[in-house]
This record gives sequence, C-alpha cells and structure tokens, in this order.
Amino acid sequence: MADPVKIRVLIVDDIQETRENIRRMLQFDSSIDIIGEARTGREAIDQSHSLLPDVVIMDINMPDMDGLVATEAIRKRLPYIQIIILSVQYDSSYMRRAMLAGARDFLSKPPMIDELTNAIRQAGKLAIEEKRKAEVNFATLEAASSSVAGQRILGKIIVVYSPKGGTGCTTIATNVALGLQSESTRTALIDASLQFGDVAVFLNEQGRNTILDLTPRADELDPDIIQEVMIKHPATQLDILAAPPRPEFADDVNSDDFSKVVRYLQRLYSFIVIDTSSYLSDVTQVCLDIANVIILVATQDIPSIKSTNLFLGLSDASGINRKRILFVINQFDKRISISAERIGESLKQPVEAIIPFEDRIVTSSINRGTPFITENKMLPISRSIFAVIDKITEKLEEQFQEESAAQVANRY
Ligand SMILES: Nc1ncnc2c1ncn2[C@@H]1O[C@H](COP(=O)(O)OP(=O)(O)OP(=O)(O)O)[C@@H](O)[C@H]1O
Ligand SMILES: [Mg+2]
Repeated sequence: MADPVKIRVLIVDDIQETRENIRRMLQFDSSIDIIGEARTGREAIDQSHSLLPDVVIMDINMPDMDGLVATEAIRKRLPYIQIIILSVQYDSSYMRRAMLAGARDFLSKPPMIDELTNAIRQAGKLAIEEKRKAEVNFATLEAASSSVAGQRILGKIIVVYSPKGGTGCTTIATNVALGLQSESTRTALIDASLQFGDVAVFLNEQGRNTILDLTPRADELDPDIIQEVMIKHPATQLDILAAPPRPEFADDVNSDDFSKVVRYLQRLYSFIVIDTSSYLSDVTQVCLDIANVIILVATQDIPSIKSTNLFLGLSDASGINRKRILFVINQFDKRISISAERIGESLKQPVEAIIPFEDRIVTSSINRGTPFITENKMLPISRSIFAVIDKITEKLEEQFQEESAAQVANRY
C-alpha cells in the first residue's frame, strides 16, 4: 500500500541523462516517490494534471516551452503543487522570474544531493499541507468541470453587477476572470461598462481594438475575427474585449448585436466574465438575462444596501431566479457594525462571499495595471477571490444537476 506521507515527485527535463541523474539521487530516500518524468513543458503540464504530484523538479530551457511558463500554468490550475527550478543560469533575474512564476525554490544545476532532498522535503511538506486545505475546493472544481457540459465547462456567463457605482465590480471582474483563466478553462473578460469602462486599464492593456470592432459584424463572426479583436493579456493569456474608446460611442453598441457577440463567444470559451455599470441600460439587462451566475456586489453602507434591495425587487419581478445570484460584500471591514449576516437577512439574499477592504493592495494593483491575484495568490484578498470562484462552480454544478433532473423528468 502506498505510504500516504510520501512526497510525490515529477521530474521535468528534456535531457534523459539529467532525468536519470536526478532519479538516482532520490532513489534511496524513503520519503520520496518519483511518480513520473516529462520531457517538455507541455508534458509537464499534462502530467501534473493527471498524476497530481506534490513537487515538480523543473528545468528552464526546454524545446517547446520555457519551464517558467509551465510552472505558471501548473500553479494556476493546481496551486498546491510546489515547483523547484533547476537551472544552469543562476542569476538574480532568473530567480526573480522563477519566483514571480510561482516557483518555490531555485537550485543550480547539477544540484548537490543534500540540497535537492532538503528542498524536496520542505516543498513536499508545504504541498501536502496546502493540498489538505484545498481538497474541498478542488473537489468542487473537478465536479463542476467533469459534469457541467459533459467533459468540460463551455460558455458559462458570469456577470458582475452592482446597482451602486464604485463598489468594486471591475476589481472583482478582472480578478475573478484571471482566477478562472487556465489552459483548460479559457476565459474571456468583456467590458460592458460601455461609457467609462476601465477593464483594459486595470490590466494595463489599452489603445487597441474594442467591442465596436465586433458588434457591427455580429452576424458574420468567425474565430479569426474574434482572435483579431480580443486583446490577449500576455502574462496570463486571458482574452479581453474592451469598451469603446470614448463615452459617446457607447450608444453605437446595440443590445441585440451585443447579445449575438456574447452568444458566439460562448462557443469558444469556458467562461465569459462580463463587467457592467450600475445603470440598467439595455446591454446591462441583456447581460443579467443571459448570465448563468450574477455576482451582485454591495458594500456595508446604507445607500448600497438600499439600492441592492431595489434591484432585488426588480430582478424578482423580471423573473431572475435568486439562485443565479451570488451575493458578495466587497470592501468588508469588520469594524463597521453592519454585519454580512444582517445585510443578508434584511435583503433575504444570503451573503455567499466576503472580500476584505484592502485599500493599499487594491489601489496600487489598479494603478500598476497588475491585478492582485496575479501578484500574490496567498493574500487574504486573493484567497477571497478564489472563494468567490468556488461559489461560482458550486452554483454551476447545482444548475447542472437541476437541468439534468429536469431532462430526466421530461423524458417520462
Ligand atoms: N476590496 C477592496 N478594498 C479596498 N478598496 C477597494 C476594494 N475593491 C475596490 N476598491 C476600490 O474601490 C474603487 C472602485 O473600484 P472599482 O472600479 O472596481 O468599482 P466599480 O464598481 O467597477 O466602479 P464603477 O461604478 O466606476 O464601474 C477603486 O478605487 C478601488 O481601489
Ligand atoms: Mg467599473
């Protein structure tokens, strides 16, 4: 029987001799179990997904993909996996890049045997702890990705809305989209705040194509046109559809064309995250109508609670099922006497996630155009975004179960 405390290690290097040397160094260590080898970055990502190692020993220079890019991709999907980079280049800029990619450790090549086993033991301990913490979350994500739409999630629309401006929709939309984006769950972020949309600014990507390059062609879309117009966020591969360049162009986007564009994108992406503005324009209403999940954002103040109450009344009247609503309190400060429970009770809509007030982190991440979730996944505010993502997958799973049950019932 496998020893449950053994550290599961994957070795990644394009040179067979190097892989064998590492294997030899580790073969007599009873706390380490070498579960696989990969020769390319692509293989490293695939094997990490299928073999679920605790620790990956990663080369940097590989023919298909830089080991740092592979590191980032692995950590994005399975953040508990700890990665040790082995490199002949041992300078500070490489180390910095490795740390930014989410690597745990950096050793020069060839490593000393003690150095390598110590690094693996430390990384393994952390991975096993992190895995335990994350187990419930992964179970939810796996369940959602295996059951929603058969093998994989396709075309799920997540709309971020608040009836009061400035509560944090754009902050939440950008960070949630980045948290959802991965190679296996490609994600698009649409800025439907058409007058003063600032999604592109939040991601430091400005001045190129916008939604106005797609809506006039809404009836003749094809994947090439979409790829031409979407702005690819280089660090994460998230695709962004920016708002028009000037507020007076907002009216040029009609809601029918907008809806056609989103419907088309559903075929190409696993998730489509839409940022909206408070004003209930035709486009915003279309977004709310077609959303699988509406992230409804409020803050702990009376104007926000009052507006949320009015919005819920309106959404009830227009037939939006409250189960589709994921009610989030942003800028949460426990020193403010209005608790999340009280807000939930008074609005008859439970608060399902809380995002803390983190003035310095949020403002500086916006000003630098680097969302906090890409900078540091371990910050409490980043963790709160992952908690929102878990709730999204829970809701999608719930909807899938209900739809399946309804289909079965219809058959009889
Ligand atoms: N969790 C948070 N902690 C601290 N400040 C925050 C938080 N979330 C957002 N903010 C701040 O609130 C302001 C508004 O955020 P954001 O632009 O995301 O809101 P919005 O709802 O999209 O606004 P708008 O109505 O203008 O579109 C920003 O200055 C941002 O720094
Ligand atoms: Mg906004």
